[in-house]
Amino acid sequence: MSSSLQEASRKTPGWADKPQIWLNQIIRTRKRSKLIAMVCLTFVFACAYIFLAPISKEPESFLIIARRLGISSFNKDSCSKSAAHSFSPILQQPTRIPKASNPPNQTSSPPVSGSTGTTLDNIVFGIGASAETWDQHGQRYTKLWWKPGKMRGYVWLDEPVENWPNFPDSLPPFRISETTSQFNFTNRFGPPSAIRISRIVSETYRLNLPNVHWFVMGDDDTVFFTENLVQVLAKYDHNLFHYIGSNSESHRQTHDFSTDMAFGGAGFAISHALAKAFERMQDSCLHRYPHLYGSDERVHACISELGVPLTKEPGFHQIDIRGDAFGFLSAHPLTPLLSLHHLSAIDPLFPTMSQDKALLHLLNAAHVDPSGILQQSICYDKKRSWSMSVSWGYAVQVYRGILPSRELQNPMRTFATWKGSPDHIEFNFRTRPLPDDPCLHPIRFYLESVEHGGDHHSTTMYKRAKAMTNNCIWETASPTTLDSILVLKEKASTTWFKVPHRQCCDLTFSNANHLQIHVGSCREGEIIA
Ligand SMILES: *[C@@H]1O[C@H](CO)[C@@H](O)[C@H](O)[C@H]1NC(C)=O
Ligand SMILES: *[C@@H]1O[C@H](CO)[C@@H](O)[C@H](O)[C@H]1NC(C)=O
Repeated sequence: MSSSLQEASRKTPGWADKPQIWLNQIIRTRKRSKLIAMVCLTFVFACAYIFLAPISKEPESFLIIARRLGISSFNKDSCSKSAAHSFSPILQQPTRIPKASNPPNQTSSPPVSGSTGTTLDNIVFGIGASAETWDQHGQRYTKLWWKPGKMRGYVWLDEPVENWPNFPDSLPPFRISETTSQFNFTNRFGPPSAIRISRIVSETYRLNLPNVHWFVMGDDDTVFFTENLVQVLAKYDHNLFHYIGSNSESHRQTHDFSTDMAFGGAGFAISHALAKAFERMQDSCLHRYPHLYGSDERVHACISELGVPLTKEPGFHQIDIRGDAFGFLSAHPLTPLLSLHHLSAIDPLFPTMSQDKALLHLLNAAHVDPSGILQQSICYDKKRSWSMSVSWGYAVQVYRGILPSRELQNPMRTFATWKGSPDHIEFNFRTRPLPDDPCLHPIRFYLESVEHGGDHHSTTMYKRAKAMTNNCIWETASPTTLDSILVLKEKASTTWFKVPHRQCCDLTFSNANHLQIHVGSCREGEIIA
């Protein structure tokens, strides 16, 4: 077997023969090669002269060299012509680049202060609502976050609602959407109002309001955290095409609609430049999508036709989950909280309050330290072998045992799926199970009060939830003896919005009933372990 292979390799000229053949050829043709090389070199020099002549102080020097080399027939034209000929396929006008005589019309863009310079004044909100659901939803949620006189925007309705407060009052003024009877709607399950709601983007653009950088869309049951929204949008250039939002928490919803779609209830932002392009094409685009379900899907379909991808900001929350959202909110992703939605589908955020009161309580903390809200810090009481996880402005959890960050930053499944499926793969993010052993359940402490501590600090007090009884039979120190936890927190620097970084914490004081925790920037080389 092996000998026949060796024979075969001897008979067939292999790779090893080739260098010898080339070498022989090179030696044979060395004289000819020299001549060709010289001609080529001369040609290169001559062409270089043509291109470099305008910047050369002695323009004739290359010509002199050329003549000395014996290329007497050389002239500028022959070189440049041949160059033009050989490059002509590249020099043709590319069809996708605007002609120089017709540059993009920037004069109609709003004046820009600084490179982005986005403040709350540069945002206009478009709230999708209907007269029918307004009393039930919009009244409730919009007025929780709306800052009268400090924000611009409209609630878009299908028909007028009586007794609307005068502007400026607790609510944005309303507008009645244009008719959409010219559009077909063929989706058997979707709401026909989806066409009307999707056109809020264009209708708001057509209002031609001054100094708008961003168009932010939301539902009447969306609650925005506007201080964070401003900081996040300021990272992006509104003169470029930006479509910013997030997916659903439900894998199935994200799968059924699109991983590249901003879910409308979570809220999304469209830059001024994109809104302008979008407004021009939306109506003709809508005719191509009568079969789609929702308004956000229709916006996504048209933005896809403009070739613009979704920029994901995971702080927008559709809240496609149900029940007790504690596990979700106490392990918020390391990103600013931008919105909450579907608040009627989840239990009150604070168990002793109504949902509206609970939201105001959370928003109150968010106003004190916006970037801090729901941000998780993890530290340990090594002596008692406890793990402490702070979700600032919301709750503190104390666990028996030392659990690593990797574990604690995954939401515990205290909540259910949107469609009632028992399968946790249904969540669009990693979760951890609710343990069977009560000793492994965290003891929850909910926000009681928040206080400004000057420009750089805040003090928050958290009280143990009454339901947290001691069913654990372990003989180790029990966190159920604690009544309250005080958290002293440094505010994060503004660079946090560009480069988020989990803050570190230390246990600074403890007795049998009370803990005091200090949250602030990590020391150099500090690890959370
Ligand atoms: C460009 O902007 C100017 C000034 O607003 C306006 O007069 C003109 O019609 C615009 N041109 C186009 C092509 O939009
Ligand atoms: C709406 O649907 C009908 C029936 O399919 C069709 O004839 C009509 O052209 C459609 N109209 C538009 C504006 O697409």
